[in-house]
Amino acid sequence: MTVLVTGGAGFIGVNFILQWLRDCDEPVVNLDKLTYAGNLKSLTPVLDNPRHNFVRGDIADSGLVAALLQKHRPRAVIHFAAESHVDRSVHDPERFVATNVVGMSRLLEAVRSYYEDSDAAERDRFRFLNVSTDEVFGSVAPDERPFTEKSPYAPSSPYAASKAAADHLARSYYRTYGVPVITSNCSNNYGPYQFPEKLIPLMILNGLSGNNLPVYGDGKHVRDWLYVSDHCRALRELLDQGSPGETYNIGGGVELTNIEVVRAICKELDTATAGENRRPHEELITFVEDRPGHDRRYAIDSGKIEAELGWRPAESFSSALKQTVRWYIDNQKWVDNVRTGDYVAWIETNYGHRAIRA
Ligand code: NAD
Ligand code: DAU
Repeated sequence: MTVLVTGGAGFIGVNFILQWLRDCDEPVVNLDKLTYAGNLKSLTPVLDNPRHNFVRGDIADSGLVAALLQKHRPRAVIHFAAESHVDRSVHDPERFVATNVVGMSRLLEAVRSYYEDSDAAERDRFRFLNVSTDEVFGSVAPDERPFTEKSPYAPSSPYAASKAAADHLARSYYRTYGVPVITSNCSNNYGPYQFPEKLIPLMILNGLSGNNLPVYGDGKHVRDWLYVSDHCRALRELLDQGSPGETYNIGGGVELTNIEVVRAICKELDTATAGENRRPHEELITFVEDRPGHDRRYAIDSGKIEAELGWRPAESFSSALKQTVRWYIDNQKWVDNVRTGDYVAWIETNYGHRAIRA
């Protein structure tokens, strides 16, 4: 049986497809628009694999999505495609509404029509996996318990609000039309192939180049970190064992302040570049103006997926961070490839006018 993945040229989608093709027999149709965040070079190991069928296109292109569904009759849609970067959503919120809300709505309509035209056996096995984020819950106070699946939605950024809207739409397609939607809300991922606009790869690459490490505000904002392969495994478990109509939180159980993460990266960089006569990388840390609407703390309770599906993160933060730093050092060609004109323009937009705070 085939599965249809959207956004499979982005960070998590690539990791998911590489893992899927390694561990499963089923073919994948990979629908991706190749925005600045999509990168076919990341799929080099599987571009000639007959079980990987890449299609460049937009989830909002109803005709294309309908044709793909008709042709391949997938047993599942795993939906990653999105605008994913909070800072970019501050500068260009409409782009987030276009992809994450309107795109989601069109995709769901195409899926509904496919689902309703399917025979009973196809309907029985079909799943729509909506890959979402813990940011829909907003910020959790230091003395509060981590987000559960019952926490109310309180998004802070246009990105988080657009994902919240997408989750509500997805849920409504289960309740109204019976489309077997499963939603997952996951914490911050890190690992290979992540675009260097996000904290961990940005700090690794800036550090390696001897550039400043721009920490927003006081650096005491807390995130929960999950290695990307653990997220991908959780999604496969949800496809196999998740209940339609349910939502599942996924997290690493690793709450760290940003400054702790950046210092840990600096230590790894010091070790990896020992012998190069560099100054300690921590000296590159620069506190800069905060992100508007910056959520102070994310914390996620993964108890439901752990208890019901037996999933747990396999990687520890320290060993997975080490692997991640090593991956960026060893994959300079990939790094050069993603640092396109758009990347250079983004660095100027986001950091060019940010005042240094200390
Ligand atoms: P990413 O930005 O790295 O990749 C997004 C991919 O979607 C890119 O390949 C891009 O080309 C594609 N895309 C964008 N708009 C499209 C469209 N209209 N049609 C088709 N393809 C389109 O994102 P990511 O970090 O891999 O995140 C994937 C999903 O997981 C997103 O939905 C995100 O909200 C969610 N998520 C991410 C994290 C994280 O830490 N990165 C955590 C939780 C949830
Ligand atoms: O929580 C899940 C979310 O994690 C996903 O839904 C998003 O798609 C993903 O981008 C990520 O969002 P964040 O905003 O948490 O990730 P980001 O890497 O942009 O920032 C992580 C933290 O680091 C955040 O508190 C802001 C801070 N930061 C980020 C950058 C880029 C800095 O201090 N300096 C920086 O230069």
